[in-house]
Parts: sequence; structure tokens; C-alpha cells
Amino acid sequence: MRIPESKIEEVRRASDIVDVISGYVRLKKRGKNFLGLCPFHTEKTPSFNVSPERQMYHCFGCGVGGNVLTFVMEHEKVSFVEAVRTLAERAGILLPEEGVEDKEKITESEALYNACRSAARFFHENMMNTVEGQLALEYFRHRGFKEETIRSFGLGYSMNGWDSLLKFAQRENIPVDVMEKAGLLIKREDGSGHYDRFRGRAMFPIFSVTGRVIGFGARKLREDDPLPGKYINSPETPIYSKSRSLYGIFQAKEAIREHEYAILVEGYADLISVYQEGMKNIVASSGTALTEEQIDLIGRYARKITLVYDADSAGSKATMRGVDLIIEQGLDVRVAALPEGDDPDSFVKKNGGEAFGKLLDTAASFLDFKATLLKSQGLFDTPEGQAEAVRSFVETIAKMKDELKRSFYIKNLSERYGIYESALYRELEKIIGKERTREKFERQREAQLQNSNSEPQAEPRPVQTLQSVPPPERDLLRLMLEHGDEMVEFIFTHVTPRHFLHPQSHRVLDMIFSHREKREIWNANVLVDETDDTELRRFLADITFSKYELSKGWEELDGVPEEADPAKVAEQCMIILRRQELEKLLAENQRLMKDAASRQEDVRPFIDHHQLLMREKKDLEMFGLTGERTIS
Ligand code: UTP
Ligand code: MN
Repeated sequence: MRIPESKIEEVRRASDIVDVISGYVRLKKRGKNFLGLCPFHTEKTPSFNVSPERQMYHCFGCGVGGNVLTFVMEHEKVSFVEAVRTLAERAGILLPEEGVEDKEKITESEALYNACRSAARFFHENMMNTVEGQLALEYFRHRGFKEETIRSFGLGYSMNGWDSLLKFAQRENIPVDVMEKAGLLIKREDGSGHYDRFRGRAMFPIFSVTGRVIGFGARKLREDDPLPGKYINSPETPIYSKSRSLYGIFQAKEAIREHEYAILVEGYADLISVYQEGMKNIVASSGTALTEEQIDLIGRYARKITLVYDADSAGSKATMRGVDLIIEQGLDVRVAALPEGDDPDSFVKKNGGEAFGKLLDTAASFLDFKATLLKSQGLFDTPEGQAEAVRSFVETIAKMKDELKRSFYIKNLSERYGIYESALYRELEKIIGKERTREKFERQREAQLQNSNSEPQAEPRPVQTLQSVPPPERDLLRLMLEHGDEMVEFIFTHVTPRHFLHPQSHRVLDMIFSHREKREIWNANVLVDETDDTELRRFLADITFSKYELSKGWEELDGVPEEADPAKVAEQCMIILRRQELEKLLAENQRLMKDAASRQEDVRPFIDHHQLLMREKKDLEMFGLTGERTIS
């Protein structure tokens, strides 16, 4: 069944763009708009704009843009319908269930999301409603997980057989290849069919930021479990990338924003135990080494991370790498050390949530953490060791991009170890110098690769068509989108659509005209919804957010002040368009005249026409748009 238009409208109304995007990007108020780091490309200074007034977004860095629905579509890589569903879910609006005819249309990722969601429900049902499932339920209870926690993390159980999920998928009409692609079924080597990947295990669904199930962690429950590993995880799939997801981010994100920092642990159970003690600003890296992408993900909600690490030395090496990486990404990091032999889960079980809270409060700065670590390695025992330790401190400081932060820590280090700041700075310069040359080298190599290779890099390029729509056309379209029907009428009493030369302009005009014909309400946001073309959406967002081009390519005019009278701006633009047309006509006439002359024909009509055009051009220049009628 299709979603009725009225429902879509309801969803749209309930989904304020600033609210929604705040769930993905840390936004700061800047004048009328909100500004943040663009989630569609990597950047260090924010150029991603969101306008609450126009309910649109636009990035000046990479050119993306659109409205609340296109944001969800592009960010989650889903179709329009699925974006509406996501926002409806978020707003608590009930939509009609998906019908069969929709099934054909859903894109691959949606099919995978659906498969994972269904599987998660199935695993949960297994646990709650089957005798066999009691094993898992008892296990979780035994670990101290409350009913409520079990529900909010969607925990479950995979039956101990080869085809329990397979049969479920068949009952639910979920294609086997979709299940396989989602990492839930495995193809038999002899090609004779599929079997369940997860068998007889306690299931931890992994959620995306928006709360979609994208994968699973599965814990061993029985002694005779033949599968290797205490935990097995979903493989990489089109919707699940281990390095880009964080366990618990969906449940934790609001709390992270609220507390302005995230607690980072390793394990699934660690997270759940701490979470249910009320410290909900917690995420888990699920046993893998922390990645840049995971830090970026946290960075959308807070700029501080407290790492909780196990005291054994393997743990601390990984922690050190994590610390450096976090610093490199420009976030602040502190480290809370657990007593030998404990993980957060066992610590909370033994000492309670309050004690864990205290541990967090007394978390060490990264300098202290590093000092303890180096001391334990005996590095402070000799002068050489000390020099090496200091160098290692400075190496970490060198990773900071913020000059102020660097000098703060240099000072701190100098006081702590009685080393001249100047000596530390020299060390710092050495390291940064090396970094700089390396970066330069890498940039050069990248450029070479790009030149020699046809495939451009993944980074979205600024959109070419934006530049190529001439400024006066852009400004006129912008004026129409800003001021609506009245402006359209004003503009088209003086020019005609043929004065607009760029195809992109015509597509926008066509949409505007079609709404006007039907006497419908229209604005940039409405037009964005009407087009499947990303470029066109970006163009619409771009002209909504950019200032008037004014001086660009307007050298002949004196330029127009920023807060110009819209009618005046329109007039200036139209003069340019008209003059362009006259020039074109003049050139054309010139050519025809030449042809005629070469054929020995009468050229007088061309001369007359030339004079007429010239006069019109002069009038246009002297009297502006309105002048031409009174004069000629
Ligand atoms: P741990 O070995 O510390 O297990 O792995 P744990 O979290 O304490 O597990 P419990 O408490 O016995 O249930 C830490 C994390 O590393 C990942 C999991 O995410 C685990 O939570 N891991 C561990 C795997 O992915 N595979 C494994 O075989 C082991
Ligand atoms: Mn544990």
C-alpha cells in the first residue's frame, strides 16, 4: 500500500529539520541558521548549514543539500518511502504496513534492514516464548540484566539448529539471498542450500544511529558449542561495517549529548551492565581496535571521551592507540583504569554503579595515563628512558591540531618534569615537521594518482553545474523561490523563459510554472521533494543558502549591496539577461549580413535591424528595463 500524501505531510510537519539533523550532526546556532560539520564529507571546519526557517540544509564544502526527507535518504541510503517511515517512527506516527506491491520497489539496503529487523524479532521471540530459549533468558538474568534492559537492547536467542532462521525467512517471504547478504544465512559449500550462521547463541542486535538493526553479536552459551570464539559477529555487509558502527550508539546518543562526553568500553556485556546502572552515555567498540570513523560518530554528540580499560598490558597498548587516535581527531580523552582482572561488567557487579561512577570521575588525563604506563615499563629509571618518555609524550601532543591545546600540554609537561618549554617545543617542531613533509608527499602522490587514473576519489566533488548556471539566472531563481508568485509575475513581465540559458534554470522554472498553473503552494522545499535528481536538489539548496552573486561576473555594474531591494536586484539581473540576448541577436545579424554581402545581396535590412538592436541596447543601458517601452 502506498503511503497517503496526507500522512507524508503529517510526517513532514512533525519532523523539524534542525531536530532531525541534530540526531546526526552537532549543530550550533549561527544567526538565523545552524552550522555543523558536514556528515557527507570529511571536514575540520564546519560548512554544513541548516535553516529552520526554510527547512532545508546545504553544505558549502561538498554541495549536498535538500530537505529533511532527502537528508534521511542520502544519509541512510534509503528510498523516499523508507525515509518517510524512518521519520514517522521517530515522530511516533503510525503508517499503513508495507504491502506486497511495495516489496518490489524497496532498495537493497532496505531489504537488508528489513531482514535484520525481522531476524532480531525472531531471536527475541525465541528467547521469550520457547522452552529452548529459556537457556538464554536465564543466562541474561543470571548476568543481572533486567527485563527492561533486555527489551531496550532487543536481546534474543538463536535456536540450536541448522535451519531455524532459514525456515522463518521462508515463512516470511524474505528471499534467501537477502538473508545471506545480510550475514544471517551461509551458503553451503556444495551449493545445496543455506544454513543459519548463528546457532544456539545469545544474540545482541547491533543498531545503527537511527535504531535500525544492522548486524548481530552472538555469545557462546553452551560448553559443547563447536563454533570458534566466545562471540561471533555478523560479517561486513552493505549495511554493516564494523569499523563504522558502535555498539549502543542508538541507545546512548541523547545521553552523550546531555552529559557532553561518552564512556567507551569494549564489550557488549560491559556496556549493558553500566547502562542499566544509569550511566547511559556509553558505547562499545565491540572488541575491535577503535577507528577514526567510530570517533567521528561519537564526535557528533560530544567532544570528550572517557576510555575504560582493563589493567592488563595488552589492554593498555590498545588503549594508548585509542588515546592517540582520539586526540588526532581533535576530541579530548581521559582514561579510567580498572583493577587488574576486572572488566567494566565484573567491576559493576562487584562494586556497584556508584563505584563505577567514581572511577569515571577520577579518570586520568592522557598525560597521567601515559606516565603511569611508561613508569610501569620502567622507562623512568634511567635518563635515556626519561628522554624517550618525554619524546613519547610530545608525540601525542603533536597529534593535536589545536595550537592552544598543544601549548597547554607543553606547559604542563614542562612543569611536571622540569624540562624547559623551549626544549619541548624543539622536539615538537621536529615531529610536526616530519608530519608536514609526509602529508605533503601523500598529497602529491594522491594528485598523481588522480591524474593518471580515471576514477576520482570517494570524496564528493563540488558540483560543476552549480558554477555553470550564470549568476544572474541563479539570482533570479533565488528571488522567485524567496518571494514567490509576486516576484515570478514581476520577472516575467520583463523577460521570458528563453532569456534563461542554462538547462538547470529551465528545470526549476518548469516546476515553478507547473505549480502556478495548478495554483498550488510552492517553495524550494516543495520543489526538492519533486525531483529524483540529486544535482537539481543540490542546486535548489545551494541557491537557497547562498547570498546573491551580485558582483561575480557583474563587473560592468557597480554591484548591488547585500541587503538590496529585491526588485532592484531582479532588475539588474534582467538587464544582464536582456543585454546578453541583444548581443546574441546582434552577432547573429552580423553574420547574416556578412553572408548576404558575400552573395551580393541587399544588406540594408540588416543594417536597419542592427541599428534597431543597438538602440534597444543603449536604451536598456540608459533607462533600465522600463525605459525601453517609452523610448522606442
Ligand atoms: P572479552 O573477551 O573481554 O569478552 O571481549 P567480554 O565482553 O568480557 O564478554 P563476556 O563478559 O564474557 O560476555 C570483549 C569484546 O570483544 C568482542 C566482543 O564484542 C566482546 O564483548 N569479542 C570478544 C569478539 O568479537 N569475539 C570474541 O571471540 C571475543
Ligand atoms: Mn566480561
